[in-house]
Amino acid sequence: MIKDRLGKYGAVYFSGDIKESVEDILGNETKKEILDDFFKALIKYDEFSEQLKNTKLTPNLTVLLYGPPGTGKTSLTRGFAKKYSIPICIVESDRLVSPLLGDTIKNIRGVVELAAEISKERGAFILFFDEIDAVGSERSNIHEVGEIKRAVISFLQVIDRVNYEGVPLAIFGATNHQHQLDSAIWRRFTFHFKFDFPDYNLRKQIIEGFVYKIENAKIGVDNSIFTNLNKEYKEIQDIVKELERKLGRKISEFDDNILWDEVKRKGKIEGLLKLTIGYSGSDIERGTKVALLKAINSELLTYDIFYNSLKMVGGTAIHVERQDILSDARTPTKAQKVFEENKKKLLGPPEI
Ligand SMILES: Nc1ncnc2c1ncn2[C@@H]1O[C@H](COP(=O)(O)OP(=O)(O)OP(=O)(O)O)[C@@H](O)[C@H]1O
Ligand SMILES: [Mg+2]
Repeated sequence: MIKDRLGKYGAVYFSGDIKESVEDILGNETKKEILDDFFKALIKYDEFSEQLKNTKLTPNLTVLLYGPPGTGKTSLTRGFAKKYSIPICIVESDRLVSPLLGDTIKNIRGVVELAAEISKERGAFILFFDEIDAVGSERSNIHEVGEIKRAVISFLQVIDRVNYEGVPLAIFGATNHQHQLDSAIWRRFTFHFKFDFPDYNLRKQIIEGFVYKIENAKIGVDNSIFTNLNKEYKEIQDIVKELERKLGRKISEFDDNILWDEVKRKGKIEGLLKLTIGYSGSDIERGTKVALLKAINSELLTYDIFYNSLKMVGGTAIHVERQDILSDARTPTKAQKVFEENKKKLLGPPEI
């Protein structure tokens, strides 16, 4: 019946309906640890709120997930819902927003109150607002600033009330447009988790993960996919180690351009990891699916098919603004500027 009651606002999933598991979303280890504690608290809500009572703090089970599309925000949450057998309603926030302000407010209150009621009746429940920035940003269909504010205020009020009433309802919000999110909404969430494009380490794991799945499905996979990937990975790691030694600091792929500039300068590497800079996990998944269509005809997934399919689908990063992609860390730090100026001295002439 829950599906009927909430159907107007979004899709409801019970653990049996959920395909992905927490383990399917690779990396993000710190988030997973914190989310494990979070969901343990949610399923033992009575005990947890009893403990909090003594501290005079009200439980506040709210989480904001932000970052570029296809980086695992929805899947990871759904994976946790499955792991802890908690039903989840994924609300498409756009659906709440109506040109009639009165309706927007009614919808926002309606969905939260309904979810609160359900969790009071039958225990832990998750309400996941996808694209939460649709409520309360220039992106919403509401045109007047004053109206946006009123929609935001009603959202905040209803969340505050749920927290205050103490029901085992977790409220999640996800957004790709964190810069446009009203700061009052931002503050309402206790946890903020940033999702990012995977770095080359994680891309290697994601690529291998998908190729293993293909092997498990008894589709032939040319071993050169793994050997090329390992070779490229080792070459990149060697460059990273050398750079870190010269610079005396850790470098991350997205902090600055040093790593890939150096790879380019050496002119050696042309592989899957280099190709997939700025790809999300979802882009890699799409590429894999395209490759599968071709591989089914030739009965073997070759390195070339895989490479070309990934190339064809392209990465998400080029479609989103630079500041969104690579976070604030992309603005060069003083140390990086000094490095840029002295790069030649530090690195020596290019290798041929
Ligand atoms: N870290 C990862 N490891 C493995 N697969 C991943 C990873 N990130 C994303 N994927 C793949 O991409 C798919 C889509 O991810 P998901 O829909 O959860 O992204 P999202 O962050 O919610 O995107 P959006 O912001 O567009 O809603 C996942 O089901 C998974 O197959
Ligand atoms: Mg999503």
